[in-house]
Amino acid sequence: MLTKEDNDRITQVGAGKPLGRFFRRYWIPAAKLEEIAEPGGAPVRVGLLGEKLVAFRDPSGRAGLIHEFCPHRRASLVYGRNEEGGLRCLYHGWKIGHSGQVLETPAEPAGSKLAKNLCVSAYPVREAGGLLWTYMGPKELEPKFPEYPWLNLPPEKLLVVKMYQDCNYLQGLEGDLDPAHPNYLHRDFTLEKDKSWAGAGWQSIADMMSDGVPTIHCEETPYLMRVGAIRKTADPKMSYVRTTEWVAPFYTYIATGPHESRLFKAWLPIDDYGCYTFYIHFNPETPLNVPASYANWGHETHAPGYRTKHTVTNMHFQDRGLMATANFSGVEGAAIQDRAVQESMGPICDRTQEHLGTSDKAVIFYRRLILRKLIEMDAGKPLPGHDPSLDFNHRTASVFMPADADWHDALKFLEEQERESAQQKTGATAPVD
Ligand code: FES
Ligand SMILES: [Fe+2]
Repeated sequence: MLTKEDNDRITQVGAGKPLGRFFRRYWIPAAKLEEIAEPGGAPVRVGLLGEKLVAFRDPSGRAGLIHEFCPHRRASLVYGRNEEGGLRCLYHGWKIGHSGQVLETPAEPAGSKLAKNLCVSAYPVREAGGLLWTYMGPKELEPKFPEYPWLNLPPEKLLVVKMYQDCNYLQGLEGDLDPAHPNYLHRDFTLEKDKSWAGAGWQSIADMMSDGVPTIHCEETPYLMRVGAIRKTADPKMSYVRTTEWVAPFYTYIATGPHESRLFKAWLPIDDYGCYTFYIHFNPETPLNVPASYANWGHETHAPGYRTKHTVTNMHFQDRGLMATANFSGVEGAAIQDRAVQESMGPICDRTQEHLGTSDKAVIFYRRLILRKLIEMDAGKPLPGHDPSLDFNHRTASVFMPADADWHDALKFLEEQERESAQQKTGATAPVD
């Protein structure tokens, strides 16, 4: 249970709020590049950390991200003409450049100085991994751009999915921090029989079903935090271990098994009441099975809006017939199952009314950690993930390993199993003297 004040501190993302200032200290995704693919094409509305912005790519190909409303009389620049060097407002023809500076005020008399010092908010952008990234914090505190391992993969090895979620970002993020819920929410009665997860990162969900009471370990890292969840298996000498890496400000690597595609997720607040989840499926080794990823997660969405039809009003198309025969939730697709419970809590979960248990250990750890980081930020201390020497090449593990081994070694066991199966496939053997 949290106090109302602490719940506000870890959910409110506006520029004047502590968490809003914390999130603005990082490079974050603003849009998919497909939204502004065409030079000189239509600008797009971008809601980000409570700010209303517009993203565009001018006819010369240069991307920009500026405040949505014209500084003259506040017409939306989403309607504007997209011209070389900036957007021109439809109403009276003012032109605003990539830097937010007003460049022209054609309806004003010649020699007018009205626009000379007029500037709207504008943020630097980077293009990488199919995303338009931005940094919204103070210029002098801009961190190094994090080199995530998937940013430079070719299109066949990278699938970037964006999905709208109708609630505060923290409800989504806390779902990923919660190792116990898959045994219930994501239980699929048909899984063992015939469902092919086709390398979409979900064979491991079957492995979780052996134990609905995982032992949870949490620790702070230079990036933010790490979670290890250990489950009993039918063999008392073996455990099933899943690790999760959290990278500030709101990124996670979900555990996947040997040779499965990997998954990076971002919980991007639009404002206090809505967010976009970015599911980044990637596989450095082989091309992805895109239809399998879409089908298993149920998260295929398209611009504009990147919404599915599922809402609280239509109960996420829950089917009580399915609950008897197919799955625990009656909702299809793992991503929709998560959204159903998280959106059902309301726009901002009232955490003063919760009753947390042992299975909520990672959620509790995160809340305490982020509250402490907000205090440290205000004390001028370095923030997680900001050390420029850090390597952002994380990988998490979903793996069976000896019950007496250290869960921190989960990735070593996973990579060892991958090496062994690759050797079996190629028939490779060690050289004989
Ligand atoms: S409102 Fe934009 S130019 Fe007048
Ligand atoms: Fe989930």
